[in-house]
Amino acid sequence: MRGGPNSETKVATAASVAPDRGGQDGNIPAPDNVNLAQQLPPSARVTFKKEKLVNRMLGLALVLALAPVAQAADVEAGKAKVASLCAACHGANGVSVSDAIPNLAAQRTGYIEAQLKALKEGARKNPIMNAIAAQLSAEDMANVAAYFASQPGAATGAKSAFLPNVAKSRVSFPDGYKDTFTKYHTINFPATKQVRYYYATKAAVAAAKAGQPLPDGSVLFAEVHAAKLDASGKPVTGVDGFYAADKLLFYTAMAREAGWGMDIPAMLRNADWNYAVFTTDKQHRPGVNQAECLACHKPLDNVSYTFTLKQLAEAK
Ligand code: HEC
Ligand code: HEC
Repeated sequence: MRGGPNSETKVATAASVAPDRGGQDGNIPAPDNVNLAQQLPPSARVTFKKEKLVNRMLGLALVLALAPVAQAADVEAGKAKVASLCAACHGANGVSVSDAIPNLAAQRTGYIEAQLKALKEGARKNPIMNAIAAQLSAEDMANVAAYFASQPGAATGAKSAFLPNVAKSRVSFPDGYKDTFTKYHTINFPATKQVRYYYATKAAVAAAKAGQPLPDGSVLFAEVHAAKLDASGKPVTGVDGFYAADKLLFYTAMAREAGWGMDIPAMLRNADWNYAVFTTDKQHRPGVNQAECLACHKPLDNVSYTFTLKQLAEAK
């Protein structure tokens, strides 16, 4: 999210509307059957022989363990789905990878299912989760909800690592882009007081103009600049309507080559596109979770996963 050039405005607002509820319900320990014996009244402890008591406890444990199964959710299937997909952001155990992503460990099944349904239908808006929930069946939702609910709550401040196969970007800095790419577009970002300049490889421009999918080897690349501000802190706008650039902040890129999508789970995969954010000294920006880029661009499969395909086709 931090790395998300676009997410700063869009996702940050959405996240602030939905506080980290997983945290509130955190720290609920998983039922510990051993402790149940101590919770029985003393009278019960003396009336039963030790062996009988143990049997009773086992029976109770069995009932507790079987309770979710009675609701037809498959916790193991939920666990597998989480491990390959949700873990990229919420962690394999429901302890999320960043402050902007809610923990789901120990969250209630009914709550998780209701949120997923609202995100799928669009009643709750978040570009990343809308794209993911849209691909989940009712059964998937029940299964992942049962799994997350079965996990112990997150310890304060705990975070999970990114999923390496999803976070890893193969995009390298396109040296010499100023000479070899076409500058095809500019956008003002009032909320962040930024202006972005968009560049693309010549073959990508040609394909867009021909109405063809963008081919392997395509690179779309943006310079993100802080706008020059006037005395009152408002961006200075040039005669062309665009903010005057003050300082380069970072670069953002998407590129594709054969096989680059191979290690990415189908529900996140953008064909063979990979994404990256580069610092001003042309290094991969640390802390970027490619899963977020992939999720947000995912619904654009019929336009080469590209928001600005129209502008690309109109490039001069
Ligand atoms: C690319 C990152 C990403 C992935 C992958 C992802 N999520 Fe999310 N999820 C988010 C973000 C960001 C939010 C916060 C949305 C908001 O602010 O409204 C969220 C919110 C949620 C919520 C609402 C939580 C609440 O407290 O209200 C649920 C439920 C959820 N995700 C379930 C899932 C499940 C299940 C999967 C896997 C099938 C999944 N997510 C995969 C990023 C992700
Ligand atoms: C919340 C949704 C969202 C997320 C997350 C997101 N993008 Fe985008 N992306 C957009 C939108 C909307 C545009 C259109 C113009 C813009 O905002 O720059 C875009 C445009 C782009 C472009 C210009 C080409 C195009 O598609 O039009 C690049 C390159 C890009 N994003 C890279 C990234 C990278 C890298 C990440 C992850 C670090 C990322 N994006 C995450 C929504 C998103």
